[in-house]
Amino acid sequence: MNDLNFRAPKGTRDIFWPDSARHQQLVDVFAEVVGEAGYEQVITPMFENVEVFQRLGDATDVVRKEMYDFQDKSGRHLALRPEQTASVVRAFAEHRPSTPWKAWYTGPNFRYERAQKGRFRQFSQVGVEALGTEDPHLDVEVMALAWHFYERLGLRQVKLELNSLGNKTDRVHFIEALKQHFGKYSNDLSEESKKTLEANPLRVLDSKREQDADLIASAPNMADSLSEDAKKHFLQVQEGLVVLDIPFIVNSKLVRGLDYYVRTAFEFVAESFDAAQNAVGGGGRYDGLVEDLGGPPTPGVGFAIGADRTLLACDAEGVFQESETLVEIFVVDTTGGLSALSLTNELRLAGFRVDRAWENRSMKAQMKAADKSGALVAIIVGEEELVTDTVTLRDLRQSTGQTEIKRETIIETLRKRLR
Ligand code: HAM
Repeated sequence: MNDLNFRAPKGTRDIFWPDSARHQQLVDVFAEVVGEAGYEQVITPMFENVEVFQRLGDATDVVRKEMYDFQDKSGRHLALRPEQTASVVRAFAEHRPSTPWKAWYTGPNFRYERAQKGRFRQFSQVGVEALGTEDPHLDVEVMALAWHFYERLGLRQVKLELNSLGNKTDRVHFIEALKQHFGKYSNDLSEESKKTLEANPLRVLDSKREQDADLIASAPNMADSLSEDAKKHFLQVQEGLVVLDIPFIVNSKLVRGLDYYVRTAFEFVAESFDAAQNAVGGGGRYDGLVEDLGGPPTPGVGFAIGADRTLLACDAEGVFQESETLVEIFVVDTTGGLSALSLTNELRLAGFRVDRAWENRSMKAQMKAADKSGALVAIIVGEEELVTDTVTLRDLRQSTGQTEIKRETIIETLRKRLR
């Protein structure tokens, strides 16, 4: 066994091909979907001044317990990003692009969480943030983007859950009502929820502990605390989803793990696997956040999708398979290697995916390498081919024999065969 010091840290993974290719493909599909809606890509630093993330709410686990924060060599207090909304909003407040500003992003995030299936300490997200309007149809647009992304991957068992957390004042009232409700029966709550109640009463609603179930079921309903404005906004969001034929369920107990949300909050849940970690994406509206991070009052809405978990959901549904091979052509050269060198180069420049064998090995060894590569076609150059200025094409998938072709027709022939 390896020395423990030389293993990937707990909660992290090395991702090899073909999983790495599938991961990249997921990002490509996302870029395609959000590109169709005019979102630009934004790339922000992986670490920020810790204050940026503290704005996510001192009471949230993400800030209180899970942040990878550190002092750099000049004594600055920094933190690896636990999510990207705060970074993107900080970038918006700093550079003030014109609104509406619609951006997408991808990349790793870091949370010191209990590692388990689908929950990592370094995990990847794809997401969007749309800033500059309160229009409920923008909430609908971002949810539709996520929905179509899952659809394009081939996922069919994803459920959209939706709630409104009301505006800031509604939230304060609701939290007060929760404090009273849970406070009255706090002896019946689980030990964990007692602690949560002190730090962040809203999050008690998210407890999955059996002991808390009854008290959660009888807790006040957010819908009763909604102001007329928030109610109207929520109804317009629902109406928009109906128009777009996107199914959803209203879950009045849905609260999110981050504290910046007002009004719309939503989550995408994978029904195909029952891991405790089946939320494959989530988001909502965060109208006060830009101001909190030093910008002008600017409403915003967005979501992030966990790439690692979404791929697990794809496995569970048996969709979005990885591409089969790294290369399509394998060059075999038993004449010393110069033909392999020039042929691979030429074919790569023509846009084919090509590999070759090394060390001038025997025909048998090179053909074995060709089979192992997964390529569809082998191009063979032996002494005879060299003299007649030809190459031999061999189909590696079917035993249809082989054909000899003129060296100068090779690109044309391969285009016909492989494209
Ligand atoms: P979040 O719900 O914390 O929201 O994360 C979004 C998604 O990231 C989750 O649904 C899950 O799929 C994935 N995820 C979170 N933590 C982990 C983990 N430890 N391991 C694996 N996957 C994980 C946000 O991050 C917000 N920034 C979303 C947002 C954007 N809200 C508005 N705009």
